[in-house]
Amino acid sequence: MTEATFTIDGQTVTAPEGQKLLWAAEAAGIFIPHLCAHPDHDPPFASCRLCFVEIAGRSEPVTACTEPVKDGLIVRTRSDRVDRLVRSGLHLLMSTHDLDCRACPARHRCGLRQIARRRRIGLRSGDPPPASPGLPRDDSHPRLGLDPNRCVLCGLCVWMCEEVVGRGLLHFASRGPSTRVSTFGGLPLVGQCPLDEGCSARCASVCPVGALYLK
Ligand code: SF4
Ligand code: FES
Repeated sequence: MTEATFTIDGQTVTAPEGQKLLWAAEAAGIFIPHLCAHPDHDPPFASCRLCFVEIAGRSEPVTACTEPVKDGLIVRTRSDRVDRLVRSGLHLLMSTHDLDCRACPARHRCGLRQIARRRRIGLRSGDPPPASPGLPRDDSHPRLGLDPNRCVLCGLCVWMCEEVVGRGLLHFASRGPSTRVSTFGGLPLVGQCPLDEGCSARCASVCPVGALYLK
C-alpha cells in the first residue's frame, strides 16, 4: 500500500494513501471530534457533522471521516470556522439529549462529554436546558438497555447488529424529528435480542453515549 506524507496542525504524519483523515489523525495522536464513525465502517455515515477540518486550498471545511489521505495535504483541525461548526453541531445534538449525566450509564466515557471537554464547550448552550423527550426506556432485557432520550442517532449500533453481527435486529424507526433506534415493530428488546457469544453486545460497545448500554 502506498504511504502518503502530509501535515496535520504542523505535525508531519505518514499514513496509507486513501485512509480517512480521521483515523490517520487518531493514529498520530491528534484529536478530531467524532461520534458516528468507526474504523471498520466504510463508507461512513457522516451524520454527526462534528469532524470538520480545514484543508489548505479548499474553500470550505471538510469532514475528516470521509476525506481520504493524500500526499502533501496541509490539514488544520482548529480554526474559527471549524470551532463554530463543532460548537453548533454539539449544541444541536445536546438540544435533544437527556443531560442528566449523573444517571447516565456512559458517564465519563460519553463521547459528547469528551468532545465538550476537549473543545471547552459548555454542555449547556446558555439556552434553557432541553426537556427530556420523555421517550420510554426499554429496560425489558436483563443485560441490555436502550434509552432513546440519550441517542444521538449515530447509527453505529444498527450497522454493527446488521452488517457485522449479521442479525439486523435494530433499525431506525420513524422519520424526521421522530426518528429513533428501535427493534422492528418497537418490540421489547428481551424478546428480540439473544445477546449471546455470537454478538457479545457489540452494539452497546460502539454506542458513543449512554443510549444502548450493558447493565
Ligand atoms: Fe448511536 Fe447509541 Fe443511538 Fe445506537 S443507540 S444510534 S449507537 S447513539
Ligand atoms: Fe464525521 Fe460524524 S464522524 S460526520
